[in-house]
Amino acid sequence: QPVYLSDYQPPAYRVTHTELTFDLDPAATRVKARLLMERNDEVSDQTPLVLNGEHLALISLAIDGTPLTDADYQLNEKNLCIPKVPASFSLESEVEIAPSTNTALEGLYQSSGMYCTQCEAEGFRRITFYPDRPDVMATFTVTVIGDQESEPVLLANGNPVDSGKLENGRHFATWEDPHPKPCYLFALVAGNLHKVEDRFSTMSGRNVTLQIWVEKDNLDKTEHAMASLKRSMAWDEQTYGREYDLDLFMIVAVSDFNMGAMENKGLNIFNSAAVLTHPHTATDATFQNVEGIVAHEYFHNWSGNRVTCRDWFQLSLKEGFTVFRDQCFSADTNSAPVKRIQDVSFFRTAQFAEDAGPTAHPVRPDHFIEITNFYTLTIYEKGAEVVRMLCNLVGWDNFRRGADQYFERFDGQAVTIEDFVGCMADTSGEDLSQFMRWYAQAGTPEIDAHGEYDYVKSEYHLTLRQRTPATPGQTTKQPLHIPVRMGLVGTKSGQDLALTLEGETLGKDAVINLRDNEQTFVFTEVAEAPVPSLLRDFSAPVKLHFPYSREELAFLLTHDSDGFNRWDAGQRLAMLALDDLIAAHRNGVEKVMDARVIEAFRILLTGPVSDKAVLAEMLTLPSEAYIAEQQPIVDVDAIHAAREFVRQSLALALRDEFAATFEANRSDEPYAPTPEQIAQRSLKNIALSYLMSIEEEQAIAFCQAQFAADHNMTDVRHALTLLVHSDRDDLSSPALKAFGEKWAHDPLVMDQWFTIQVTRPQSDVLERVQFLMQHPAFSIKNPNKVRALIGAFAQNRVNFHRLDGQGYALLADVVIELNRLNPEIAARLITPLTRWQRFDETRQSLMRTQLERIKQEPLSSNVYEVVEKALA
Ligand code: ARG
Ligand code: ZN
Repeated sequence: QPVYLSDYQPPAYRVTHTELTFDLDPAATRVKARLLMERNDEVSDQTPLVLNGEHLALISLAIDGTPLTDADYQLNEKNLCIPKVPASFSLESEVEIAPSTNTALEGLYQSSGMYCTQCEAEGFRRITFYPDRPDVMATFTVTVIGDQESEPVLLANGNPVDSGKLENGRHFATWEDPHPKPCYLFALVAGNLHKVEDRFSTMSGRNVTLQIWVEKDNLDKTEHAMASLKRSMAWDEQTYGREYDLDLFMIVAVSDFNMGAMENKGLNIFNSAAVLTHPHTATDATFQNVEGIVAHEYFHNWSGNRVTCRDWFQLSLKEGFTVFRDQCFSADTNSAPVKRIQDVSFFRTAQFAEDAGPTAHPVRPDHFIEITNFYTLTIYEKGAEVVRMLCNLVGWDNFRRGADQYFERFDGQAVTIEDFVGCMADTSGEDLSQFMRWYAQAGTPEIDAHGEYDYVKSEYHLTLRQRTPATPGQTTKQPLHIPVRMGLVGTKSGQDLALTLEGETLGKDAVINLRDNEQTFVFTEVAEAPVPSLLRDFSAPVKLHFPYSREELAFLLTHDSDGFNRWDAGQRLAMLALDDLIAAHRNGVEKVMDARVIEAFRILLTGPVSDKAVLAEMLTLPSEAYIAEQQPIVDVDAIHAAREFVRQSLALALRDEFAATFEANRSDEPYAPTPEQIAQRSLKNIALSYLMSIEEEQAIAFCQAQFAADHNMTDVRHALTLLVHSDRDDLSSPALKAFGEKWAHDPLVMDQWFTIQVTRPQSDVLERVQFLMQHPAFSIKNPNKVRALIGAFAQNRVNFHRLDGQGYALLADVVIELNRLNPEIAARLITPLTRWQRFDETRQSLMRTQLERIKQEPLSSNVYEVVEKALA
């Protein structure tokens, strides 16, 4: 059942041009296709034509105008096979499909009454018979016919070329996309939509019309996305010299969407949660997320659309590169160190867990059953880290020239990761052969480091040893090329020391390259004893172990010249304290707070503040999920208790400092999602969280006032979360009720209302989830709702992992139901259960029981693949 990368064969038949006509109807849409096809010279004239097609009712087939009879073709659940075709021909087909019952949200479906599509990766085969693979690229002409009343707006890729009225209250629009594209980039939207319009003038002077299409009620939520789009377009011109290539660029917001958004040529389709913002409905985090996703999809126009993937094993070719591009854009637009801290913090929590679990896979997988299961943190985020290493390795100038070469040489083609890396090797002259292992080897490399200072010789000896743990199907690992950016911070001067390595002067901040299993780097002329600052800016996606003492970490926290590593030193210091407390909790010993952590926090709170956003990050303790990642066996209760103890100890010891920070950062300025305001709000709100952890009257009053002031959603949501997560029902219930009533009409705000309730630590959460699943605002068919309620509950560590196993059972129930409705979402939802090896034996067996129960069902290939791996 799996497909293998090594089996790749070029397509036997190409499509040079595709003509489609859609006659829209909820239950019976007719799709006519006319494909101009050509046989590849390399294959024999006996080669049958095999097209993909699923859930299609075939009405008619013809070749060059001659209808085919039953004897001329074979049809099964997945394919249409025509044994004899000419070398060059036109294939005409007509099929019927039912958008209204398409709950998988792949292909053509309906969302709040409007028609939309999602074709990546293999959704186009649910629309018409076609060679549904990315290396078949064609120009498209698309005619959409709909009802004038219910579908006044008819959109597809490219440029509008014709439109008009038809009989029976119908009308049509015809669109032409001149750029050859694979069918996964096809899009169609039809419905009662309203637009906001703007324009962008490109560097060569082309005037581009920009449109954001939404439901009428959301017209006031598009401003930020539009501004983000214009910034992205300018950034790609300035940074990569890449210009937009059509006269029209459209974004559409839809409420039912499996992922964040989709880069369809000229017609990006977005999950409404990834595009709509308003100060009263969206938080700062959402504003920043929207900016990043708008940029990501826009950047795909070159990294993905003009140059696309040969096959789906190369998915990271477009996704890793594009995530890297959107990360750099956000860093340039906001606070660069904070962007890096947030990305890495998420990466080390979630991608490391994926890489250590049963679904671990390389950045370029070599086989899969269901490609939708591979839209993962490894393909996207680890892929981006690999591109980032590549960029740092060859240097920006070579990287930029390599990117130019890639876009020029492969324009209009479907290519591989080798093609991309090859360009970088070409322009830089570097040998990147060992580096390629990053794409092939799964698992997180670990570096064991230790250092010794030789006073007599003034030398610092740094030894680095690398190992990558075995992952499913890959037992032996080869050493990787790991760039380690570092400095040596003098303990006397508190400054970065000049680095001399094997006679070579490197400056004060340098990259050393670990290529062997073990290497010792000898730094000479080291005038004072240093503390090493390693893996600066997270220069490689690895786990670094260095036996830092708490004093050394406290030293780095204040002296490291690298902002990222200052933050990391704080996290490591907190982790050491947390480890002790977790052990104390398990052993039933009294918990004692490490005074060095309190002192470090006091310095942070009272010292000069250079960057409020970084400070807010530094005051944030590692999450329970991150702490869990560090433990050999996860003890959810001990982790929760230890972390709460640290929060409360800090709040008790630094009560006045937190209160002063809170007061100093309050503001009545009108809301704007500027980096300055966002930094100030996060600092204020983190201070409020600490104060609320001890639930003093003053903190409660602050919280209630902030909630009642209703100034912006960031502050309201933060205050509401603190009230709802408190132990006092008299605080929780009235606020929840007021908020729920006020926002009952807004699905995206109701998502937040669901999430806040099911992430509280109190033990009534499971019952609440069950209750809320019956709430009128909940629908199991809407992925955002499932994520907000069920997905969020599964992240609630203490409650999901209840010892009676009811949390696991609830998740399995939902997975079983969704397996029938929306396999892609069902397969994703199982993730927390697949991590069973990380828990104690009781929980292991409870989790496995639920996986076994799911396995008894008639499963979609999506869910089957995940469950199979999880139980293997
Ligand atoms: N290419 C899209 C993006 O990263 C995601 C498409 C996901 N498709 C899917 N079937 N999961 O922007
Ligand atoms: Zn993408």
